[in-house]
This record gives sequence, C-alpha cells and structure tokens, in this order.
Amino acid sequence: MQEVLNIIQKRQSARIPFDSERPVAKEDLRQILEAGRWAPTAHNMQNFEIIIVDDKKVLEAIGSMKSTVSETFIRENYQHLSFSEEELLKKKVGILGTMFPPAWRTPGYKPDKDTDSGRPIQTSPVMLIVVYDPDRRAPASEGDFLGIVSLGCVMENMWLMANSLGISFHVVSTIATDPVEKKVKSILNIPNRLKIPFAFRLGYPVTTPAKYLRVRRNVEDFTHHNRFGNKDFN
Ligand SMILES: Cc1cc2nc3c(=O)[nH]c(=O)nc-3n(C[C@H](O)[C@H](O)[C@H](O)COP(=O)(O)O)c2cc1C
Repeated sequence: MQEVLNIIQKRQSARIPFDSERPVAKEDLRQILEAGRWAPTAHNMQNFEIIIVDDKKVLEAIGSMKSTVSETFIRENYQHLSFSEEELLKKKVGILGTMFPPAWRTPGYKPDKDTDSGRPIQTSPVMLIVVYDPDRRAPASEGDFLGIVSLGCVMENMWLMANSLGISFHVVSTIATDPVEKKVKSILNIPNRLKIPFAFRLGYPVTTPAKYLRVRRNVEDFTHHNRFGNKDFN
C-alpha cells in the first residue's frame, strides 16, 4: 500500500527540456498506454484516442507554432502565484511565480507574441496528444462533465506509469486552447468534431532537474465530517 502512495507522491511535472537524442523505448511507451487503457471512465466509455507524435518534422511544426497568451490567462494565472517559497508554503496551493516567464506573472501585461519558452516540444523525443468526442458524452452529463473527469483519470494513470519508469512527463495545455488546438488538429489530421483535452511531452531531462518546491494542503484542510464545514474528524 505504501508503495502506491510513494509512486503517487513522487509523480511530478517536468517543465524542463528533454534530450532529443534519447528516445522513449517502444516497450515503455506501450506500458504508459496500457496504464491509460485501464483508467476508469464514466460508463466505461473509454472516450479517448491518443496520437503518438515522434516525427521530428511534426514536433517541429507543433512546437514552433506561435501562440498568444490571453489577458484572461495572465490575470487568472496571477491569482495562483506565490512570489516566495515562504508564501507558497503558507498558502499550500498554487505555483511559484518563477515557474513562469516574467511577462506571464505581470498583471496588466498586454499580450503580444508569446514569450520565448525555448523549444521544449521540438526537442522532446515524443509527445502524446489525447483527443475525445464531446458528443459521445456520458448519459445526461451536462457539458460532458463526467467524460472530462474520466480523461483526468487517463492522464493520471499514464503520468504515474511514466514516472514509475523514470520517464519525465510534462502537460502542455496550450495545445488544447484555440487557435493552437485548431492548427494542431489540422497538422495531425484530427477530425473537426473531436477536441484535444490535453497533451504531454515525454522524455529524459537534458540536465539533472533543479528541485522545486511542491506543496499540498493537509488532509484536514479539505475534509469535512458528515456535513460541510464540520472539521471534527481530524
Ligand atoms: C489538467 C492539467 C493541466 C495542466 N497543464 C499544465 C501546463 O499547461 N503546463 C505545465 O507546466 N503544467 C501543467 N499542469 C501541471 C500542474 O501545474 C501540476 O500538476 C501542479 O502544479 C502540481 O505540480 P506537480 O505536478 O509537480 O505535483 C497541468 C496539470 C493538470 C492536471
């Protein structure tokens, strides 16, 4: 049991460049997909298709796409940031501001061209793009809410498997937002009715990743006993 918790606690985001010359072995990729295959989904819909992109030209085309950071992103991103480790440790939620380029953590910044974030996609050995059909929703699930929750289970299963295999994993949400999503769909020949909920890069870091502060609320912070607000359980 402790082993499962260990794997869960060790899973983490790799916002770092990967070694383009070090491929992810096919057997490992298969294991990651196998973990996704066994994810729970509402009504066992298995509402996903996964496109494995390891063609360097295609990665180049996706990675070199220019995206503009929206004002909404900058405003809402700011609300989740801490500007010192002390602040983050106190808050226990959110992200350290230094994880983002300066422009992304400056309220009032007028989005223009995307800040240069290196070439993380182009230099990744492989990227997995997940797609789903929003019209094939779980019965009576408004906004396909249950289908989307299911996709989160798929993500987590694959993430845990990848990290267990020593493979780094980085979710790249910009792929799922317009206008990037539209262009990626066109590059990958994805039918228009399908949507990209998430995509991620897989690989091995070029250098030893710097340790970063990871915080979580305590269990008693989010648990309630028998009725909301009753904290006598702990
Ligand atoms: C649905 C979802 C979308 C995410 N999108 C991004 C993203 O676009 N870029 C990124 O660097 N991390 C992304 N993340 C990673 C989270 O920021 C990360 O899981 C969180 O900050 C906790 O850090 P940890 O993964 O290291 O525990 C995403 C995670 C989830 C579940």
